[in-house]
Amino acid sequence: MIDYKRHLVTAALPYANGPVHIGHLAGNFLPADIYTRYLRARKEDVKFICGTDEHGVPITIRAMKEGVTPQEIVDKYYNIINDSLKTMGISFDIFSRTSREIHKETSQAFFKNLYDQGIFEERESEQFYDDEKKMFLADRYITGTCPKCENESAYGDQCEKCGSTLSPEELINPKSALSNSVPIKKTTKHWFLPLQNYEPWLKQWILEDHKEWKNNVYGQCKSWLDSGLNPRAMTRDSNWGVPVPLPDAEGKVLYVWFDAPIGYISATKELTPQWSDYWCKEDTKLVHFLGKDNIVFHCIIFPAMLKAHGGFVLPDNVPANEFLNIEGDKVSTSRNWAVWVDEYVKDFPDMQDSLRYVLCANAPENKDNDFTWKDFQERNNSELVAIFGNYVNRAFVLMHKLCGGKVPAFHIELKDAADDALFEKIVQTKKTIEHCIENYKFREGLFAVIDLAREGNKYLQDKEPWKKAGQQELIDNSLHMCLQLCANLAIYCNPFLPFTALKLCNMMKVVDRMLDWENGGSLKLLKVGYALRAPELLFRKVEDSEIEAQVEKLKAGSAKAIGSVHSPAEESPEIKIPAIKPLITFDDFDKIDLRAGKIIAAEKVEKADKLLKLTVDLGFEQRTVVSGIALYFKPEDVIGKQVTLVANLAPRKMRGIESNGMILMAENADGNMVFVNPDSDALNGCVIK
Ligand code: 2FM
Ligand code: ZN
Repeated sequence: MIDYKRHLVTAALPYANGPVHIGHLAGNFLPADIYTRYLRARKEDVKFICGTDEHGVPITIRAMKEGVTPQEIVDKYYNIINDSLKTMGISFDIFSRTSREIHKETSQAFFKNLYDQGIFEERESEQFYDDEKKMFLADRYITGTCPKCENESAYGDQCEKCGSTLSPEELINPKSALSNSVPIKKTTKHWFLPLQNYEPWLKQWILEDHKEWKNNVYGQCKSWLDSGLNPRAMTRDSNWGVPVPLPDAEGKVLYVWFDAPIGYISATKELTPQWSDYWCKEDTKLVHFLGKDNIVFHCIIFPAMLKAHGGFVLPDNVPANEFLNIEGDKVSTSRNWAVWVDEYVKDFPDMQDSLRYVLCANAPENKDNDFTWKDFQERNNSELVAIFGNYVNRAFVLMHKLCGGKVPAFHIELKDAADDALFEKIVQTKKTIEHCIENYKFREGLFAVIDLAREGNKYLQDKEPWKKAGQQELIDNSLHMCLQLCANLAIYCNPFLPFTALKLCNMMKVVDRMLDWENGGSLKLLKVGYALRAPELLFRKVEDSEIEAQVEKLKAGSAKAIGSVHSPAEESPEIKIPAIKPLITFDDFDKIDLRAGKIIAAEKVEKADKLLKLTVDLGFEQRTVVSGIALYFKPEDVIGKQVTLVANLAPRKMRGIESNGMILMAENADGNMVFVNPDSDALNGCVIK
């Protein structure tokens, strides 16, 4: 691969509207970090660029929700994100911010360049406008009734109930989420990038010249290109973002997806005066790491921008990952269904490599994958602890016990087939890892490391130096091999598990220069007679109680999601009171049979996190009702509660249990569900009217 002079590696800039979660790590930061660490170990010239994406609608919504300014939001989350990624060992050369002056200058100059070349199409269009707040409304700021499922709290871009993608025009009874007023249409001017002009070039560049890109990436690009590209607005009406650098553009900012990728360039400028070597010289290899939701921006829109501008290198590859689900469910920041990196590093201090290991081993490289705490525990305990940690520990303990704490000599005349085979495996593993990392197959590369440790365990088991009393030369040979293997393992694991590699260096009393990739595959890494330290614990076991606590925390956090620090709101701003439904007649109402009842038994429904099976006493009969309240109540907390039951709702089967009726619930100010119960002790079974 290395016919390039230098490498530029980027990881997608996280929005500074909340902390990052392990999905970000697995999909984006970790593979980029492994790749970069490997290149550094190969002494390649590489710059690893990232920072926070501090503009766009989600940040303004978050600020509105918290009653603070967008600047306060991005300042807070920049620090949280920066700290947590550093702690996880993500080794950026720079972690910048798109709110910095250098970014404003760079992105404005970029825009101006395209403008001066006459590339943009200027278009006037009618957009929704809040006349009370005197603001144009981004799609997310408009709510109304979904034309497909009649959900009354659909957003202008999406209905979260039926999942349809919408445009604000499609909403029935649209309302401004800012003031609740009916938005009006107002004319506004924007600058569009005519993507259709770049279509033939993009087709050649991606579909013909980059057939090697990952299937998921290539496939997504192909489907975009096959369905035809349209002009896309590169400006927005907003007061938060990089101002459009034109005289007649008051109240307009650059579209966040125009300015964010330019953030890679401005961050490189901030990092080094040689920035243009990395961005403008053809012998730079540019690789963008990201999640699948960012593919189109990095493969189509940003390259079209770069091409339009001219003079910039284009990405050689865009190894995007799919998504990481958590405990079988999609990550949702608004539902707080996520494992937050800043919390992980607090809950598991000094266990960064365990998470790096599990996330890499389960990386969603080709399809969505699932993270479960049980799997975290199992992989940590049975792979890192039982294979890798155990091997290194045994080798060191035996060397201290049987060889006086020093690297024993290797007596060449006693070399046997097992020694040769182990050496062969060490050499082969190096090639495998190189091939895997250079082709973005990080899981496979990691497994090669563990395989080698497994091989070491087997070698040690077969050699049984502890049974060779009186045959010191045989003991020496096997432990010499084992220690050289430990040194090779340090080199090989370094891109993936950098904390472990450093611990190994410390135990072997070598400087971290030993970790240079060129040293791998050698049996001369540790000098004969060199005294080594006592082994330190490379990995520790994760106990059942720890993962139970994490699962509990996940569920509890999710139940309390609304208003929590971890609900960055790009999915659901907290404007939730739907409009009153159309009028009904008394007869319509009279069809509903509401009864007072008392919950007399409650249990969890197996394999359904949200459901409780309740028995409701109506006096004249007992009903089974399945209710989606398990995230809010434990079974024991609801027994004895008075409730209002819709008693004539047609039966419905949920998880195989027939539910006969529905219990009325309401939402309190914390976003938790509460029962709607009769004011005083109503008689069980009485009609509520
Ligand atoms: O999806 C996101 O989180 C975006 N903030 C990614 C931006 S990547 C780049 F272009 F800056
Ligand atoms: Zn809908």
